[in-house]
Amino acid sequence: MKTIETVTGLREALEAERVRRRSVGLVPTMGYLHEGHVSLMRRSVEDNDCTVATIFVNPLQFAPGEDLDNYPRDIDGDTRKAAEAGVDLLFTPSNEEMYPEPVRTTVKVDVAVGFMESASRPTHFDGVATVVAKLFALVGPCRAYFGEKDFQQLAVVRRMAYDLSFPVEVVGCPTVREADGLAMSSRNAYLTRDERIRAVVLHRALTAGAGLIAGGEIYPQAVRREMARLIDDEPLATLDYAEVVMADTLEPAKELRGSLRLLVSAVLGRARLLDNLGIAT
Ligand code: PAJ
Repeated sequence: MKTIETVTGLREALEAERVRRRSVGLVPTMGYLHEGHVSLMRRSVEDNDCTVATIFVNPLQFAPGEDLDNYPRDIDGDTRKAAEAGVDLLFTPSNEEMYPEPVRTTVKVDVAVGFMESASRPTHFDGVATVVAKLFALVGPCRAYFGEKDFQQLAVVRRMAYDLSFPVEVVGCPTVREADGLAMSSRNAYLTRDERIRAVVLHRALTAGAGLIAGGEIYPQAVRREMARLIDDEPLATLDYAEVVMADTLEPAKELRGSLRLLVSAVLGRARLLDNLGIAT
């Protein structure tokens, strides 16, 4: 695996791949890699001749007061994990390399605005879409791998690639979980031992919601209420949202039919956690 820190270096390395007509896979991350990230890398390695993974904690997607400065980092561990997963090129640019000048052009996202993640973090997806657009522009034609763990982000990125005609096939990959069901996340590192044990309540709420639907519940609001109640009943968790949406549009479900997605978010201590589950009725 070759580690590259500059935009020019990345373009040169990829030019060499393209001359040899090799297909390219891209896995954007913010590092502090866990099995969830590694599963995306492995999938890309399987599907493509050359896999580029990126590690960049993107300041544009953090609001003032969020965890930008404390975001966990472990470049040595990350380098080892990426190499073990079979990554060919690891792109680890500095802030100055990605944003040499203050940014005056950004991508504005209009997908489920004011709803779920974008209610709690109104500028977040513009920041995500802007950095992902830069990575797509740098890497060129490729398949790009994103986790369903961040389901709203996946929808935003898919729509951006479509709207802006990027020559990129966006591939969604399943959520990797800990043994007790907690979705893996770099932010799980913020949890105390007690919070870590209680954090499974998000997954429990989702499976309870899925259980209601499987049992014949017909009202989306009853599913939302039950998921919210379970999280509210956990003293260490503060509910942010519990939603049932249509999987393709992310609009609130009006009936429990078709391809649905249950999504929850809660704060435990210093960590804001997300999880979601797909349901086909
Ligand atoms: P980060 O949180 O590091 O996640 C990088 C990728 O890993 C995302 O596509 C995310 O959905 C996926 N991922 C995280 N946890 C996962 C899990 N448990 N199972 C499967 N996939 C998982 O998401 C970002 O970084 C950033 O917003 C980024 C897209 C890199 C833009 O800055």
